[in-house]
Amino acid sequence: MHKQAAIGVFDSGLGGISVLHEIRHLLPAEALIYIADSAHVPYGEKSAEFIVQRSLAISEFLVAQPVKAIVVACNTATAAAVTELRQRWPQLLIVGMEPAIKPAVQASLSGKIGVLATIGTLRSARFAALLERFASNVQVITQPCPGLVELIEAGELQGATTRSLLHSYVEPLLQAGCDTLILGCTHYPLVKPLLGDLLPAGVQLIDTGAAVARRLHSELGKQDLLADAKHCADFFYGSGDVAKIEHTLALLWPSIEPVRALGF
Ligand code: SIN
Repeated sequence: MHKQAAIGVFDSGLGGISVLHEIRHLLPAEALIYIADSAHVPYGEKSAEFIVQRSLAISEFLVAQPVKAIVVACNTATAAAVTELRQRWPQLLIVGMEPAIKPAVQASLSGKIGVLATIGTLRSARFAALLERFASNVQVITQPCPGLVELIEAGELQGATTRSLLHSYVEPLLQAGCDTLILGCTHYPLVKPLLGDLLPAGVQLIDTGAAVARRLHSELGKQDLLADAKHCADFFYGSGDVAKIEHTLALLWPSIEPVRALGF
């Protein structure tokens, strides 16, 4: 694999842009290919079989570009499909997301942690294993957030509807005494300003985008695959309504990017 090859990043939609920002920040020389599977967003309540099938198809497309690494910038897709992806491409660096249980346990003073994530992530075996490994001495309260991903995909990042939905999800966690909230879906950091307004002082938000970018940087470095200088443009692809994706992407990414139709 050549060090100038791109890094492929995919998500059910545009949530993975929160991770793409961290990757761009830490790895400015890398060419990036981002895929939004917007025809099928949200993944959160879909079957694991369906998510595995979409993740394999998208990764097949990325491998053909070619890419030197794939970032599964979606907690639900990581929980459902990262094992299959690694079995299919054992030589390829594949980095996934997971709710930041360990850092949250270290940060919490109250010993009560809230996890905001999709139903798919919260029901997964990977999440159960994380809790067993890191959270035996704390109380973890989980909160699925139906409807939130759809609002974010529609570009509703600041309005009263999103604020009131967020309030309904965060309030029970605060009432229960949580002092640390984990954002266990890559869409949620995109509404961090709104979320921050809803939290009293002393309650912290934790997400994994920056840690994933650091891991990618470190693994590419070990394999001598870090790009020397930026030679290639970034590319954005989407399934579904490309104009809609471009509309929301323009709110999330510093440059105006055309979105190409994924075609499957
Ligand atoms: C979703 O598509 O439901 C959210 C994806 C995620 O878990 O990051």
